Amino acid sequence: MIRIGVNGYGVIGRRIADAIRLQPDMEVTGVVKVKADYKATLALSKGYDLYSAEKSGKDSFKEKGLAISGSLTDLVPKVDMMIDASPGDVGAANKSIYEKFHKPAVFQGGEDHGVAGVSFVAQCNYDKAKGHSSTRVVSCNTTALCRVLGSIDESMGISRGRVVLARRAADPDEPSKGPIDAVVLDPVNIPSHHGPDVNTVLPGIKITTMAMKVPTTHMHLHSVILTLEDPDASKETITQKLEDTTRVLLVNGKDGLKSTAHLVDLGRELGRPRGDLYEAIIWKDSICVDEKEASFFMAVHQEAIVIPENIDAIRAMLGSESKDDSIAMTNNALDIDK
Ligand SMILES: NC(=O)c1ccc[n+]([C@@H]2O[C@H](COP(=O)([O-])OP(=O)(O)OC[C@H]3O[C@@H](n4cnc5c(N)ncnc54)[C@H](OP(=O)(O)O)[C@@H]3O)[C@@H](O)[C@H]2O)c1
Repeated sequence: MIRIGVNGYGVIGRRIADAIRLQPDMEVTGVVKVKADYKATLALSKGYDLYSAEKSGKDSFKEKGLAISGSLTDLVPKVDMMIDASPGDVGAANKSIYEKFHKPAVFQGGEDHGVAGVSFVAQCNYDKAKGHSSTRVVSCNTTALCRVLGSIDESMGISRGRVVLARRAADPDEPSKGPIDAVVLDPVNIPSHHGPDVNTVLPGIKITTMAMKVPTTHMHLHSVILTLEDPDASKETITQKLEDTTRVLLVNGKDGLKSTAHLVDLGRELGRPRGDLYEAIIWKDSICVDEKEASFFMAVHQEAIVIPENIDAIRAMLGSESKDDSIAMTNNALDIDK
């Protein structure tokens, strides 16, 4: 079993820990928290060994009667690999700790590409991570764009992509970021960082992205417009390609799924933990091709989409499974159909 430490037990870290547990070839050695809050109690109740981020932080857990197994520097020597799911930029500061103990580490999309030098989306560049001591799983929006644009580019060629991203303003457990009553250009400048971030995984795709924050905690919504090289591309060929692409789910507005709220409802009914939707979700009946220009709407469950990539990044770095085998193992464990 591959022993994994998870540094950060927030939105992403909690899901990664639970997903690791579902895999046949890996186990969670411990999880790292700063605050001795309800999430620390939950981690213990699930059977995870709990570690504090700082040595001095151990006392606050003891004062609350929470069993603490040590601090981050006690956990790192015990593992085969660390997953860093701490807040953006904190991961880069943690890198020297992992290096000190010669432990490979997976970082998240809140870090710059330079933290690892390899930015990762399993179906796009799995083999690139092999043998690397660090890999960065890109952000939720970039993961969705890479899965979908990578697949379409492979078969039809994309000469230019344009994407407008309406981003959720905060995650559901961040009430301090609201309430708000505005659409906030984030950033005002064009392009947003998402296009250049796609190019860290798919360097050949020309893409312009524009982004804004909207007052919701559920999901991001992308309006995608692609100029295609293939003169024979049609609604049918694009739909078929996306049907065949792993971790992309097509839904229909005419079935009553007309909003992100409906998708949240669907996720809950699928019976997955927390109602998580790991797929990039595209409205099939939004797909439109006019001459060589294809357009569609895509939704991204920001809390969930990067979880399968984190699992695959572990196997990719260690070289323990091929791309197809790892994706199949992860999909099977997380109940992702294809
Ligand atoms: N949220 C999303 O939608 C999303 C989507 C894709 C990627 N990401 C990326 O995933 C990473 C984690 O994001 P998140 O949303 O999971 O963050 P989060 O909910 O704020 O959780 C961060 C976790 O890191 C812990 N932590 C460990 N060391 C820390 C330190 N030195 N300072 C502060 N906290 C520390 C925190 O502990 P406490 O709980 O004790 O405070 C918390 O459990 C970021 O790079 C982010 O950009 C996030």
